[in-house]
Amino acid sequence: MEAVKIRLENISKTFLHRVKGEVSAVNQVSFDVQPGEFLTMLGPSGCGKTTTLRMIAGFERPDKGRIFIGEEDVTDLMANQRNIGFVFQNYALFPHLSVFENVAYGLKVKGMERTPIEKSVTDVLNLVGLKGFERQFPHQLSGGEQQRVALARAVVIQPRVLLFDEPLSNLDAKLRVYMRGEIRRLQKTLSITAVYVTHDQEEAMAVSDHIAVMNEGRIIQIGTAEQLYLKPDSPFVAQFIGKINVFPAEIKAIANNQVTLQLFKKEYQVSRGSHHVKSGEKINIFVRPETIILTEPSDEGALKATIVERVFLGEKVDYLIQLDGHLVNATSYDPLRQGSFSPNQEVGIRFHPEAIQILKEERKRD
Ligand SMILES: Nc1ncnc2c1ncn2[C@@H]1O[C@H](COP(=O)(O)OP(=O)(O)OP(=O)(O)O)[C@@H](O)[C@H]1O
Ligand SMILES: [Mg+2]
Repeated sequence: MEAVKIRLENISKTFLHRVKGEVSAVNQVSFDVQPGEFLTMLGPSGCGKTTTLRMIAGFERPDKGRIFIGEEDVTDLMANQRNIGFVFQNYALFPHLSVFENVAYGLKVKGMERTPIEKSVTDVLNLVGLKGFERQFPHQLSGGEQQRVALARAVVIQPRVLLFDEPLSNLDAKLRVYMRGEIRRLQKTLSITAVYVTHDQEEAMAVSDHIAVMNEGRIIQIGTAEQLYLKPDSPFVAQFIGKINVFPAEIKAIANNQVTLQLFKKEYQVSRGSHHVKSGEKINIFVRPETIILTEPSDEGALKATIVERVFLGEKVDYLIQLDGHLVNATSYDPLRQGSFSPNQEVGIRFHPEAIQILKEERKRD
């Protein structure tokens, strides 16, 4: 089957809250998911991820906007007419049905004959690694196995689209990492367009072609994991994806796309980015911990600072450092531990000018 495109056009949804009155759960959300693409909606709790996904599935009707699957406007179609596979956080398996019957259910509802059902269910159970589990019941399965049944049940109907709402959040950390790889492989093998919801940014980065970062019912930025991490558009995205330092700085001069700014009494030439700044303006700048260079205190060109805390994390060491009344997060990847520092020790700090980002909530409009 050909993979299809999904298109959301200006989707809005409000709910009636008993105390707050009308609350806007989803606010003018638009995005396209290309055929065969894996798009993840990522954002803090309550930002509207599940509501958006439920509108794509047809469990919820948007107040405004249209939803297309392929060329078809499905906004007014019932959920069971959309041919969508949905995988929920709590699996939602039928407890009184065997694994086989759980997976076969959707095909029976469609009126398929017993023989082709047996073939389809067997194929799909093989695909998700559950060969031999046909006669087990949900309560006899581990969490990971139950999630595989849910996955099998979603794909057995050969849906046009796969939707996932935090499918791994009931699993332990190791299994989550394993299962997210399985989900991604299955989605690629079947080449089904997928929309996935999570609030775990590492999970989003690991599985997605594109990530849509949401906050308060809106899409803040859509991009690949790399684009969002390296070139966030806003302080929100910079702080939500990975760790980042925020420091006060002052704009000293502007020439073309270059800005001279003062940061901890030193001047740096930095790219202006897409934000509007004025000479003399006090702004916040953003620096990722792993771009900060730690050197010996004797390093003349470096800023003088003091280590406050050192956390050994195996492949890296996280430092908290006191610099001029500010706390700096710095991460050091130093496999041979040649440049290791201890608490209370003096260090030198250097910032890469290319790693200093100017970000404001309001983007420059030009
Ligand atoms: N049926 C409903 N009735 C009233 N308000 C609702 C309903 N469903 C969701 N909301 C509200 O809409 C907002 C968005 O909820 P939604 O479930 O989409 O968030 P979410 O991003 O999935 O959050 P989480 O990560 O916690 O699952 C929340 O403020 C929530 O309280
Ligand atoms: Mg949710």
